[in-house]
Amino acid sequence: MTLIDLRPDTEAFNADPYPYYEKMRAAGPVHRVRTQDADGVWLVVGHEEARAALNDPRLTKDPRKTPGWEDVSGGIYSNMLDTDPPHHTRLRKLVAREFTARRVQALRPRVQEITDACLDRMLAAPERTADLVDSLAFPLPMTVICELFGVPDLDRASFRVWSNELIGPTGGDQESAAARSMSAYLVSLIEAKREQPGDDLLSALIRARDEDGDQLSAQELVGMAFLLLVAGHETTVNLISNGIRALLAHPEQLAALRADMSLLDGAVEEMLRYDGPVETATYRHAAEPLRIGSADIAAGEPVLVSLGSADRDPARFPDAGRFDIRRAPQGHLAFGHGIHFCLGAPLARMEGRIAVRTLLERCPGLALDMDGGAYTWIPGLLMHGVRKLPVRW
Ligand code: HEM
Repeated sequence: MTLIDLRPDTEAFNADPYPYYEKMRAAGPVHRVRTQDADGVWLVVGHEEARAALNDPRLTKDPRKTPGWEDVSGGIYSNMLDTDPPHHTRLRKLVAREFTARRVQALRPRVQEITDACLDRMLAAPERTADLVDSLAFPLPMTVICELFGVPDLDRASFRVWSNELIGPTGGDQESAAARSMSAYLVSLIEAKREQPGDDLLSALIRARDEDGDQLSAQELVGMAFLLLVAGHETTVNLISNGIRALLAHPEQLAALRADMSLLDGAVEEMLRYDGPVETATYRHAAEPLRIGSADIAAGEPVLVSLGSADRDPARFPDAGRFDIRRAPQGHLAFGHGIHFCLGAPLARMEGRIAVRTLLERCPGLALDMDGGAYTWIPGLLMHGVRKLPVRW
């Protein structure tokens, strides 16, 4: 199969990958691509094939099963998203009860309070402009996950730098350096919590390990803290910023939502489908030879599933390139599919809905402020979103 070289188009592809995906889908559901950070990887772009691939046990998530893989991260990859059953099942079970719809509902009043406080600060700006990422999209999910974890005084500035590097690597040795710094920081955080436990998720995880012997190894504790803290905010930031960007770029949709807030839940689902935070799911590798669409994938080869492309597949969503908050996009893949389906989906949805509603209610004149210059896009295939979203009101 011909290799599609996306490297010369890196900037354009980062900014707007959807026309590229459209072309690829028209030529077939699976392609071999070369990108800035992947030299020859299978990319699944069709919806049906993407759904099947996410649920295919022949595609392993465990990097330890890949020949030549060496863990230089200090444990951060010892987490549920980087394991297969039975380890995955055990790790997920340990925290699943903390993220049920019922548990998440109990956090609602606090999420509203944090949102209000973010907007109080933002709206006090006399120039009536702000970066929505810095003012709301980042601090809201970050504060929520830190409080849930019992690490309210997390060093957010450093954490954000490492986390940004791991989510959108800028190349060279910086990714592994960020992984090591992150791991060392988490080890110290866990030690501090062990000495002063509280009524929080991290204390509960430490206890689970201590009382039940081998339940969570020291590495798995680091891996779990890493996954939840990073997945808990990097993604939701982009749900809020991509979602608001889509709304403000489609005034008729914005007006419809303002006129009828009962459309809110559906609007957030459409934001997830139309321009979701996670552009491609995390790496999978063929544990044995397999065929997806007409692609013959050899054992050991890496496979990426493009959720962004799958959710714009017209075979699944008619007129898929149109942002339509009344669409009810059932079955979108923004939260993944199968055993690794996003554990935090109820929390992310709740945060997204509260953020969008409160922002629109408190800012009747909200608009994009492109005097702020051109967007800086998050590099790499994993996430789609902007680093800053200048708005005015
Ligand atoms: C809009 C926000 C979010 C989006 C779009 C999102 C998306 C995803 C996706 C696509 C996956 C699967 C990745 C794959 O199969 O390769 C995933 C997994 C996961 N997400 Fe999220 N996520 C969001 C928010 C959150 C939040 C708030 C949390 C929790 C605090 C969270 C925790 C997790 C965890 C723990 C996994 C791994 C589940 C497993 O391996 O069983 N996510 N997420």
